Amino acid sequence: MKKLKTENYKGVRDFYPKDVFVQKYIFQTWTKTVESFGFEEYNASLLENSEIYKAKTSEEIINNQTYSFVDRGDREVTLRPEMTPTLARMIAAKKRELSFPLRYYSIPNCFRYERPQRGRLREFWQLNVDILNVKNDKFYDIEVLKLINQLLLNFKATPSDFTIKINSRTLLNSVYENYYEFNENEALAFQRLSDKKDKITDAEFKKEYEKITDKDYKDIVDISDKKVKVQLEYINEIIKAVGIPNIEFDQNIVRGFDYYTGIVFEVFDTNPENNRALFGGGRYSNLIDLFETVKDDVNISGIGFGIGDVPMMNFLESRNLLPEFVSSTDVLVGILSDDEKVIEYADGVANELRANGKNVSINYDWKKVGDYIKMAEKNCIQSVVVIGEKETEERRYEVKRL
Ligand code: HAM
Repeated sequence: MKKLKTENYKGVRDFYPKDVFVQKYIFQTWTKTVESFGFEEYNASLLENSEIYKAKTSEEIINNQTYSFVDRGDREVTLRPEMTPTLARMIAAKKRELSFPLRYYSIPNCFRYERPQRGRLREFWQLNVDILNVKNDKFYDIEVLKLINQLLLNFKATPSDFTIKINSRTLLNSVYENYYEFNENEALAFQRLSDKKDKITDAEFKKEYEKITDKDYKDIVDISDKKVKVQLEYINEIIKAVGIPNIEFDQNIVRGFDYYTGIVFEVFDTNPENNRALFGGGRYSNLIDLFETVKDDVNISGIGFGIGDVPMMNFLESRNLLPEFVSSTDVLVGILSDDEKVIEYADGVANELRANGKNVSINYDWKKVGDYIKMAEKNCIQSVVVIGEKETEERRYEVKRL
C-alpha cells in the first residue's frame, strides 16, 4: 500500500505546542487590549449561507477567494472569508433585544483561497473589533484608531514601527463624482480597480480604466478640489484628535470591500521587508440594513477593523517582540526504577504538586537523573523532581529549578 504524505493542505498550518504558544500570546494580548476598552466577545459558526457575501462584499473575494460548496440539502454554503457580514447578520437578527451601542470583538478563523505568500495564508485567525450604532460617529472613529495604537504598543512596538494611513470613502466618492465625473457603476468599478493599483502596472491600470468608462483617462486625483474640503477637514480633525505622530492621510487607501462608507484605514509596518498592510478597517453604514429584519429607513452604522494572526506574527517576529517559549508544564517528575513502592510514592508526589496548582508531567521510562534534566530542558519545563529508592525511603524530594 502507498504510504500517505505528511504535508498538510496548501496554505493552512499545523500548530505544534511552540506554535500554539505564540498564537496564544497574540490572542491574549489582543483580548486584554480590547477588553480594556470595554469590548465583549461574540462568536459564530464558520459555515455561512453563501448569499450573505453576495450583496455587498469584495468582488475579488467572492469570485476568486471563497471556499463554497453545495451541501446535501442543496444549500449553498461558504466558509467565512471574513467576519463582518456574520456580525451584521447577528446584529440584524437581534436588533430589538440588543442594547446599543455595542462594542463587540471576536477572534474567528477565516478561509480565503489566496495564493499563499508572506503574511497571507488560506486559513488565518482574525481579530475583529467593531462598535455599532452610536450617535456621534466621529468620537468612535477616533476611539477605534486610538485603540489600534494602544494595541500595538501593548505588544511593545514603538510608534516608529508602524503608520496608520487614513482616507474616506465619502471623500473618494466625491472625487469620483466631481473630478472623474463617473456615474455610480463607473465609480464602484473604479474604486475596486484603485484598490488593486499597487498590484498591477500603470499600463494595466490604464487598460482596465478604459474598460470601465469612455471618459478620458485621468491619472492623478486632485484632492485639493474644493468639493472635498469638508471630508478632508473631517480626516484632519480625526488625525489631530488621535494625537499620535504616526497617523497620516493617504489618498491611496481604498480598501477592498464595497460596504465601507465613511473613513477607511490601513496600518502599515514601517519595515521595508514587511511592506504590506498589517490590518485594516473602516466605517460601514448600509451593511446591516441588507437584512429583512431592518427597515429601509433604519440606519445601523458600524466602525471596525480586522487583524490577521499571520501578518501580526511577521511584524512581531521581525522586531524580536515574540516571547520565548515556556512549557505549560511546571514540573517533570522522573521515576528512576520500576520498584512498586517508588512508583507509588512518585504518583503521590505528582498528585500533591497538582493539588498545589502545579502542572505536572510524570515519566515511567525509568531513565537516569541526567536524562530527566535533558528531557525537561528540551521541552522547556522549568523544574524537575526525581524519585528513586532514597527519596521513597526518606519520604522527601527536591525540586530542581533549571
Ligand atoms: P481585510 O482587509 O480583508 O478586512 O482583512 C483584515 C486583515 O485580516 C488584513 O489586513 C490581514 O491582517 C488579515 N488577513 C486578511 N486576509 C488574510 C490572509 N489570507 N491571511 C492572513 N491574514 C489575512 C476585513 O476582513 C474586514 N472584514 C475588517 C473589518 C472589520 N472591517 C470592519 N470591521
